[in-house]
Amino acid sequence: MDQKNAALLFVIRFLVCLIFVSSVVQAQLRPAFYLGSCFGAESIVRETVQNAVESNPETAAGLIRMHFHDCFVNGCDGSVLIDSTTGNQAEKDSFVNNPSLHGFEVIDAAKQALETKCPGIVSCADILAFAARDSVAALGGPRWPIRSGRRDGLVSRSSDVLSNIPAPTFNLQQLTQNFNNKGLSQEDMITLSGAHTIGVSHCSSFTNRLYNFNSTTQQDPLLDNDFANKLKAQCPNGNPNPNTVVEMDSLTPFLFDNSYYSDVRFGRGLFTSDEALITDPNTKQQVQANSAFTQFPWRFKFPLAMIRMSEIGVLTGQQGEIRKNCHVINS
Ligand code: HEM
Ligand SMILES: *[C@@H]1O[C@H](CO)[C@@H](O)[C@H](O)[C@H]1NC(C)=O
Repeated sequence: MDQKNAALLFVIRFLVCLIFVSSVVQAQLRPAFYLGSCFGAESIVRETVQNAVESNPETAAGLIRMHFHDCFVNGCDGSVLIDSTTGNQAEKDSFVNNPSLHGFEVIDAAKQALETKCPGIVSCADILAFAARDSVAALGGPRWPIRSGRRDGLVSRSSDVLSNIPAPTFNLQQLTQNFNNKGLSQEDMITLSGAHTIGVSHCSSFTNRLYNFNSTTQQDPLLDNDFANKLKAQCPNGNPNPNTVVEMDSLTPFLFDNSYYSDVRFGRGLFTSDEALITDPNTKQQVQANSAFTQFPWRFKFPLAMIRMSEIGVLTGQQGEIRKNCHVINS
């Protein structure tokens, strides 16, 4: 082979390699995925979320929890946004999500604005990941970069929800196992539980701790007594109003800070699963560290754990689809 041919062969091999590598790279999440295809997509979501949270700060909690519930059931593929149809009860209609999950109208507003600007480009799964991040920032929490390029899933079954979303009655071992199943560590679980620094809960998620705790004690001994009395007044024994909601962090309910960890330390964690974080010396130590007045290290750790959560089981490349309407699978 002469030199010219060898050089040509080299160039061809190089190009083939480049095409192969770029196709592999394309099939992964990457920063600023929409830079070329829908410039300003993330800003549109951010403005939509900021407006929504400004007019109703409760919206932020809805969106953060929605992203968590999307990611833990079939990966972060926007499946939580899909409506039920005749013959298929979707994730959002599991009792775990309905009626407590909210904020869908914010995703719709962002999607609509994006479809007007660049039709068929930005996935519902990415919009939800951006919206959760922007909700944290809108309430004074940290902000972080998100790798995007998630594609929308084609499956949403309500029967998948209960077995994948941790229950508020879980103990430390069950919580750790549940997060490990999703590729997240116990430390991630402790860090992400800090999201309970905002938002509300219905009585049914914690009345197990107030009445008939077990055969020897009525009330969970890990509960602060004043806090328990307050909860009992809001959620009376027997049939509390199913619409009553209780703030999870009554001190700063609309501030995305680290006060959750002080709540947990002092017996004001709302769920068994919150108070479970102090039932082991190692996890208790983390709770204490995260409760520091300076908000560090938690404020550093939270974004990193959110990034890991937001990349669970994502669809990329040619997988799934870009839904036109977040409520329905494209026909
Ligand atoms: C560690 C295991 C977790 C358990 C057992 C749990 C359980 C719950 C429960 C039972 C509620 C109240 C639902 C209701 O009755 O209305 C709730 C609310 C909430 N959860 Fe969690 N959660 C966990 C982790 C997380 C994570 C990882 C996040 C996000 C990163 C999160 C964010 C939220 C938010 C923001 C709310 C308030 C929702 C609202 O105000 O509408 N949770 N959680
Ligand atoms: C009831 O709960 C208390 C406090 O957690 C515990 O010490 C006790 O062993 C429990 N009793 C039974 C019968 O489970």
